[in-house]
Amino acid sequence: MSGERSRGLPHSGALRPGIRTFKPRRSRITRRAEAALVTRTDLVIPWSDAPLAFRDHWGAGIPVVVEIGCGDGRATLGMAQEDPGIGVWAVDVHTPGLGTLLADVTDADITNVRVSEGDALAILETMVPPHSLAGVRSFFPDPWPKARHHKRRLVQPAILDLVRSRLQVGGFWHLATDWQEYADAMAECFDAERHWSGGIVERPADRPVTHYESRALREGRTITDLIYRTVA
Ligand SMILES: C[S@@+](CC[C@H](N)C(=O)[O-])C[C@H]1O[C@@H](n2cnc3c(N)ncnc32)[C@H](O)[C@@H]1O
Repeated sequence: MSGERSRGLPHSGALRPGIRTFKPRRSRITRRAEAALVTRTDLVIPWSDAPLAFRDHWGAGIPVVVEIGCGDGRATLGMAQEDPGIGVWAVDVHTPGLGTLLADVTDADITNVRVSEGDALAILETMVPPHSLAGVRSFFPDPWPKARHHKRRLVQPAILDLVRSRLQVGGFWHLATDWQEYADAMAECFDAERHWSGGIVERPADRPVTHYESRALREGRTITDLIYRTVA
């Protein structure tokens, strides 16, 4: 995998060309993360123009959950450890975070995590077979607080349709945010769609505190978890 950039990454048709849900950012990579990116390529799923056979990566009959925007993978790791019977596919454009996750997975001897570098929306659209996922997780997606940037938000009708088309009926999308106005907007967006049911929930005990969340908590912001399931 190479450095983070959005130019050249496959784009999803759910958003207008040039519109991405992530911010380009660069941060230093530790030697540990860099080494894991080189040694653990067995855990990296590269871009493919064809849908993936999940059994080739996790084994037959294993439910698969995609995490959109795993960052440094703190939640990915904890939830994969907690539930070894699921296949966890962590996706981000931020290479240093993926390297940290690969190093942590190696140290903890976890076998059910795979990672991909790229725009998770393009990955969902092209590499995930229709109605194949048990769930999707998105913890602290970029809030894009300015009204003119709302078109970059992860929770918007076209992306709800894309995620729903990849979930099994009854599959879940678990989100968390520290941005109250975004939490309200998320609930409003899901509630307007008849194929989703759910709402704001108490923080699930098995969701670890993520890197972004710990900063939000230090700064005194309130955290909202939301879980929605698809209905036929
Ligand atoms: C605010 S950070 C939160 C990271 C992590 N979940 C946490 O809570 O610490 C949002 C992350 O989502 C990633 N992201 C946003 N949109 C994405 C997309 N379409 N595909 C892949 N990653 C995305 C960003 O690169 C960033 O790492």
